[in-house]
Amino acid sequence: MNRWKRRGESVGFVPTMGALHEGHLALIRRARKENSRVVVSIFVNPAQFGPGEDYRRYPRPFRRDAGWCRQAKVDLLFYPAAEKMYPADYRTEVHLRDWENIWCGRFRPGHFAGVATVVAKLLNIVSPHRAYFGEKDFQQLVIIKKMVADLNFPVEIIAVKTVRESSGLAMSSRNIYLNKAERRAAEKLYPELKKIRADLLTGRLKPTGLPGRLKSRLKQLPEFEKINWKLDYAAVVNNENLSTVKKIAGRGNARILVALWIGSTRLIDNLLV
Ligand code: PAJ
Repeated sequence: MNRWKRRGESVGFVPTMGALHEGHLALIRRARKENSRVVVSIFVNPAQFGPGEDYRRYPRPFRRDAGWCRQAKVDLLFYPAAEKMYPADYRTEVHLRDWENIWCGRFRPGHFAGVATVVAKLLNIVSPHRAYFGEKDFQQLVIIKKMVADLNFPVEIIAVKTVRESSGLAMSSRNIYLNKAERRAAEKLYPELKKIRADLLTGRLKPTGLPGRLKSRLKQLPEFEKINWKLDYAAVVNNENLSTVKKIAGRGNARILVALWIGSTRLIDNLLV
């Protein structure tokens, strides 16, 4: 990687946990277009999973992923072992005051410190010119941008729009956990978010009314009668700093953030207002 940089080549980096899908490929293609070299990492990062979360059962189809990377003309696939990334005497962590404990952070203590720490390590190892992150994980994107600014990482963070299935369901490595009935319910979330956005923009719905409205809408859908579900949170937040938005001030400043359990799968999604 350093040799490439010495030769004046540009390096684009896409960190992932593998189980690649079209969402990851959008990041890789964008990196391919904007850089002469592309590095992808696959590392299921134990530090970002809580006790009782899906670290062990997280899908790891490594050969298939490697084949996709080859097809996508990735120059280097980095897949470190957990013992190399976190040897027994490992101690350093990156924390983002307050931000790591809001929204998803409230329900997943330690998650964003785990993400920030591994991304800091990966950025130092790969030292790319540009690193690519999906808007799908919006809080993660905001946190990484903040870490990079605060700690002066010499890298440009590029955000890529969420890739969705034709139903609107945001692509995710965790979607394979959904059974048929759960998937049918999951596919209803995005259309509901779009209706809610329309009501926010016309003022028919206030931002504080979002969780109540979403819950009552989902309760009315037949797809949600047949499954177990639970809303962790739904909120309208400021696009830059994730603070709660009380009043919509025009288009493009706020974002709906949602975390919804469908059966034993936790889905997240977001939509620009
Ligand atoms: P992972 O869930 O594998 O996602 C890797 C990257 O792909 C992230 O930037 C994520 O936002 C993006 N991504 C996932 N689904 C997407 C979709 N449907 N559309 C667009 N982009 C999508 O996020 C992680 O891994 C980890 O937390 C990581 C950053 C690698 C640190 O361990």
